[in-house]
Amino acid sequence: MKLELLMKIPERGKEEGLAAYAQRLTELYSNTNSSESRKHRGQFFTPEQVSSFMVSLFDITHKKIRLLDPGAGTGILSAAFCERLLNNGKTGNLIIDAYENDPNILPFLKMVLGSCKSELEKNGLDVEYNICDKDYILQNKSYFTKSDLLWNGEKPVLYDFIISNPPYYKLDIESPQASIMNELISGQPNIYALFMALSASMLKAEGEMVFITPRSFCSGLYYKKFRQWFLKNARITNIHIFESRKEIFNQDDVLQENIIIKAKKLKDIEKHNKIIISESKNKHFDKISKLEVQSEDVIFRKNGDIFIRIPTSPLDIEILDVIDSWPHTLKELGLEISTGPVVSFRAEEFLLPELTEKPASVPLLWMHNMKDMNVVLSIHKEKKSSAIKVSSETKYLLLPVKNYVLVKRFSSKEQERRLYASVLLESEFPFKHVGIENHVNYIHKPGGALSVNEAFGIASLLNTTIIDKFFRSLNGNTQVNATDIRSLPLPDIENIRKIGKAVYESKSYKNGIDLDGIIAGILGLKIETQSLNG
Ligand SMILES: C[S@@+](CC[C@H](N)C(=O)[O-])C[C@H]1O[C@@H](n2cnc3c(N)ncnc32)[C@H](O)[C@@H]1O
Repeated sequence: MKLELLMKIPERGKEEGLAAYAQRLTELYSNTNSSESRKHRGQFFTPEQVSSFMVSLFDITHKKIRLLDPGAGTGILSAAFCERLLNNGKTGNLIIDAYENDPNILPFLKMVLGSCKSELEKNGLDVEYNICDKDYILQNKSYFTKSDLLWNGEKPVLYDFIISNPPYYKLDIESPQASIMNELISGQPNIYALFMALSASMLKAEGEMVFITPRSFCSGLYYKKFRQWFLKNARITNIHIFESRKEIFNQDDVLQENIIIKAKKLKDIEKHNKIIISESKNKHFDKISKLEVQSEDVIFRKNGDIFIRIPTSPLDIEILDVIDSWPHTLKELGLEISTGPVVSFRAEEFLLPELTEKPASVPLLWMHNMKDMNVVLSIHKEKKSSAIKVSSETKYLLLPVKNYVLVKRFSSKEQERRLYASVLLESEFPFKHVGIENHVNYIHKPGGALSVNEAFGIASLLNTTIIDKFFRSLNGNTQVNATDIRSLPLPDIENIRKIGKAVYESKSYKNGIDLDGIIAGILGLKIETQSLNG
């Protein structure tokens, strides 16, 4: 950063709040640093309103407070914390330790923390702040690696409160940060989870941390060990989610869904505690709703894994309970889900715009051929081939025509549900083979074939709002991949067949409410299906 710019960092206005000032400096910093360099450092800055909301989650009763702000940026989170102390007329003593390793942002951070100190001191609070310009993880590794006994009487500093919007970027598995915390890593590590775990290690007993992070740690293989470690060492008390995924960090194109969590360091992790889940439409926190749930509804253990599920209504909880009680998975029913083998750019030489007799060809099915619960061959999309040649070279790409359940791997923007399933019916498909494109998964029975009723039963279940809500509680992804479907509980096969028969014979194959009604009727569910689309 140029020297003349550093000299020009503006002072806080007389009437300007502390967090508003930090926000102004964040904007100034963002306008003078390229978005590539910000992305590289994992810099997605917290808006003022989100900072204030995060701070409002702390229970502050102490007179002497030690606050940690790892990855502080311009210090907006510390500033919001100070503002809360001011608004509550607190007196006492505050020490802020801020970590920030971007030399370009440090002068802004210094201005903000300096301003916090003078404002709080004017109001009767003693303030000390320390800025550490080193890597937060490397600098504090001993908190994670040393057991209490190994500190040799030299007492580590522990914190009452930790607030952070940690950086978000993938780390090399060989990086020194990842090596220090390798017991938490199941795949490609992301620095945000390491910030969370280290912070949990730096809390006093009963201390509290509030973090805004991507939702990805709540489910999925990569964060399995992290979840196990974190939930053993801290107790989640609050989770906030945003209905609109894009809006939170609007200056930066963040597509990840973000959540705010508050966790407490507690010696005895009780089983039956409560968790408050709140939801707001956007970062302005209008239309905020709150739900108090049992921790078991959120922290869910299955097959040696542990998940954090986020139901947002009593109906969501009912749905989790119902689906958790279903006894089977695809595998237990002798079924498998696979990904369509035709990757169009690799198979280009075999693809044809239209079906032809010479050379012999068969239909190539894409997501756009799935309509309601049918496969519709007459739907064409520009630049997408409709057929694939049949030859010895394409043998491995083609499937024998049988009854299959096709499931979209990606959801389109206009699609309300995440899951979209159709049935390829052998009796209505006048070909011996078929090509299934790579954006489509298909459910099949290895060594056999699905019956019509089984295929319709499974497709109907996948298309219900009940299953959609189940997946939404489980993760924030817009796509549902094969692994998710493999672990989805399913009712027993007799009931699946009954559902399939009722839907197939109704011939309307309608989605949404009708399917939910049929399924609730057959399975004897007490869920009020009328409320599902509300
Ligand atoms: C997501 S930003 C959040 C900034 C600020 N706390 C806020 O809420 O707006 C994360 C910050 O952490 C800093 N950072 C990235 N890696 C770091 C590391 N290893 N140690 C300390 N700070 C780091 C980045 O430069 C960035 O300013």
